[in-house]
Amino acid sequence: MKGVILAGGSGTRLHPLTRITNKHLLPIYDRPMISYAIESLVLAGITEMMLVTGGTHAGEFLRLLGNGDEHGIDRLLYAYQDRPGGIAEALGLAERFVGDDGVLVMLADNIVEHTFRPTVEHFAVQGNGARILLTEEHDPVHLRHLGVPELDGDRRVTRIVEKPEDPPSTYAVTGIYCYDPQVFDVIGTLEPSGRGELEITDVNNWYVGQGTMEYDVLDGFWGDAGESIDAYYAVNDFVRIHGANKT
Ligand code: DAU
Repeated sequence: MKGVILAGGSGTRLHPLTRITNKHLLPIYDRPMISYAIESLVLAGITEMMLVTGGTHAGEFLRLLGNGDEHGIDRLLYAYQDRPGGIAEALGLAERFVGDDGVLVMLADNIVEHTFRPTVEHFAVQGNGARILLTEEHDPVHLRHLGVPELDGDRRVTRIVEKPEDPPSTYAVTGIYCYDPQVFDVIGTLEPSGRGELEITDVNNWYVGQGTMEYDVLDGFWGDAGESIDAYYAVNDFVRIHGANKT
């Protein structure tokens, strides 16, 4: 299984900090944010990965990560996204790298308390389709900033609503996704959303429609450090006290 870490975008919710660097290079406790995503993939057994980024600070990732061997990576490739055209567009840049393998995709502003290795193992057994990681969230205000699944009583996702006014469940879709290689054909069919982006939620809803979307519920803390300046500091506080990526 290959890994793709997405670290592009414009980071406007963390302006003005993100005028002077890429969001994913900002510190979370004692390390740049991106190093938590890298560590989480390596802990999940994924050591061939592509980092997709963009903007004027892209070169700093090379300075930080080099060829990846200090981080336990066997093969590290980089891709450059010309403009922030959406999460699905950024993933599309990894098509040739992923080839006929499955792929785990992680948004580089997501931080987890515990390893998601079990999800990677479940996806290996599942064999094809897609698998997402959900986190329990009871605050509707928070859910309105995220993707929210509608679930039936039988462990099935019936649809995912991006940033819903009226959240259909008390779960959020985290930025950790597993896909079969068909995902790149799906991306090729997408139309830009109202905000001009190719949306990962449209990709996920395609798999829901095929009946091949499975999910796990994440154990422990999950944070999106790019959601707001308050979320950024909440993630920092959590990691400083409790740590991250525990096995
Ligand atoms: O964090 C979880 C949430 O991430 C999910 O619940 C949502 O369903 C999903 O759409 C996404 O929502 P966000 O509003 O947080 O997405 P955002 O635009 O902030 O992008 C998240 C990361 O994706 C960002 O840190 C870097 C990467 N990205 C984003 C864009 C728009 C790229 O690499 N390229 C891009 O063009």
